[in-house]
Amino acid sequence: MDALSIKGLKKRFLKGRKGEVRALWGIGLRVAPGEIYGVLGPNGSGKSTLVRIVATLLLPDAGEVRVFGYDVVREARKVRELIHRVSTEAAFFKKLSPMENLLYGARLYGIPGRIAARRARELFSRLGLPPERVGKPMEQLSRGQQQKVAIARAFLHPPRLLLLDEPTTGLDPRSKREVQELILELREREGTTVFLTTHDMDEADRICDRVAILDEGRIVAQGTPAALKARVSRDGAEATMEEVFFAVTGKEWRDDESTEAV
Ligand SMILES: Nc1ncnc2c1ncn2[C@@H]1O[C@H](COP(=O)(O)OP(=O)(O)OP(=O)(O)O)[C@@H](O)[C@H]1O
Ligand SMILES: [Mg+2]
Repeated sequence: MDALSIKGLKKRFLKGRKGEVRALWGIGLRVAPGEIYGVLGPNGSGKSTLVRIVATLLLPDAGEVRVFGYDVVREARKVRELIHRVSTEAAFFKKLSPMENLLYGARLYGIPGRIAARRARELFSRLGLPPERVGKPMEQLSRGQQQKVAIARAFLHPPRLLLLDEPTTGLDPRSKREVQELILELREREGTTVFLTTHDMDEADRICDRVAILDEGRIVAQGTPAALKARVSRDGAEATMEEVFFAVTGKEWRDDESTEAV
């Protein structure tokens, strides 16, 4: 059974008087259990919309989405038990500390406090969250630090299907690496299926078994990073993922990450 299967998925949004935005327009893909699957696309291509539909937070207009066989619309409660979504707008108790937030989550899952605290400290330290921040209210943390807490929370109690919407956007290179290592390790240790979105071509190349390239709500290419690169490589020289994007869309890859952070 597929960990995730999507068929003919469409989603549009109404936008002012000008009509509608076709955020997703006929998406189809399948993710096998234990796979790390990446969705790569520029700003506004539909990545977050796709993740939010899988996470049961948005309803599709057409098509079918199943998580381990369960329909995200008709069996949303069952789906919610199997997934965990990490996004840049993660929700926390702002007055509580990172540790308190994680312990709260652990209690909901029945993980004993002492075990959870030890594991949380390990995760914080691996992610490079400064020790003096671990006991401070969340609202005093930087965005990047809050993001690390959101990632740590997901790893404390790994779901069957982990949804990561741009997990490393806005993190410094070293923290990025650390998050990527954790994702690989989690799959290795728990067999967790990971569905992630990213702006980062190198990241997709490094950790994803397969990727889909999204452009204006459509999948314009899908395959292993190696196969995609082989498709556009000339004279035996290895192509970059940027070149793959250009080859399939005719557009330059524009990474707006830096402008977003301003
Ligand atoms: N709630 C909404 N209401 C109206 N339009 C929306 C809504 N959510 C997304 N859109 C539009 O749908 C399109 C896809 O947006 P989405 O956020 O999925 O893109 P994205 O690939 O995640 O972009 P980014 O890289 O900037 O995060 C965009 O044109 C966006 O403006
Ligand atoms: Mg997004």
